[in-house]
Amino acid sequence: MAEKILIASGKGGVGKSTVTSFFGREFAVRGSKVLLIDADPGLGALDIMLGVQDRVMNTWLDVVCENCEGENALVEVASGLFLLPSPSVYPDELTDEDFRNVVSYFDNKFDIIFIDASAGIDRNLEITAGAADRAVFVATADEVSVRCAAAAARESENYGIERKDMRLVINRFEKKAAIKSKLLNVDGVIDKSGVMLLGIIPEDKKIPFMSVTSVMPKKKSPFIKAVGRITGRINGEYIPLEI
Ligand SMILES: Nc1ncnc2c1ncn2[C@@H]1O[C@H](COP(=O)(O)OP(=O)(O)O)[C@@H](O)[C@H]1O
Ligand SMILES: [Mg+2]
Repeated sequence: MAEKILIASGKGGVGKSTVTSFFGREFAVRGSKVLLIDADPGLGALDIMLGVQDRVMNTWLDVVCENCEGENALVEVASGLFLLPSPSVYPDELTDEDFRNVVSYFDNKFDIIFIDASAGIDRNLEITAGAADRAVFVATADEVSVRCAAAAARESENYGIERKDMRLVINRFEKKAAIKSKLLNVDGVIDKSGVMLLGIIPEDKKIPFMSVTSVMPKKKSPFIKAVGRITGRINGEYIPLEI
């Protein structure tokens, strides 16, 4: 059975899809068979971030509606890395069970499944959290984002994810800005979110341009190293925090 990890945040634009795509790449490079499920109706960006937008034929809603077989909705991104694209809208009659059934269909075909949620703490969080074993909340080091992550964590508890199975990723961190008190410091983010820290990913000025330039960050860049450390921790390795 695959480990099913929700990537959520409450607030939009904090880097959920970005970190999901890089977690996927990193796990696949390490030999896992990885499925990324885009669950951001209408605003799904993973296909573009992964450079496969021209190959999307079906979405997971087509699997729910039996318009296609599960395998025919998958897009192979790289060796061991697959994307299940998001529909543009969720029909009113879509149930939590429908989404859970799609995830279960792929359960024994993958080692790890990441579910990239939309922003907000509404129905979509209920649907996606209900299908996950654990959750990673992504926040940037500012008051609004951290409060939203805390709210998303509280809501996810209502949808069946236990606090012990929640972790926090601080994204777009800039040490200098934190030192100058322009950003919250790491302790502040952990305290205010109420979620245990999984890792810190630094700001990398090249990331926002990747979909146009197709230039990946270098393997030795602080960004990729941070993603690598987090991947190891998700795998249960003991890797001390580095800021
Ligand atoms: N560590 C980072 N450094 C620099 N830019 C980042 C980083 N993480 C994400 N971004 C940028 O932030 C923006 C929002 O990211 P995205 O993954 O779409 O957020 P979300 O899925 O939470 O809405 C994008 O322009 C993305 O390139
Ligand atoms: Mg997103």
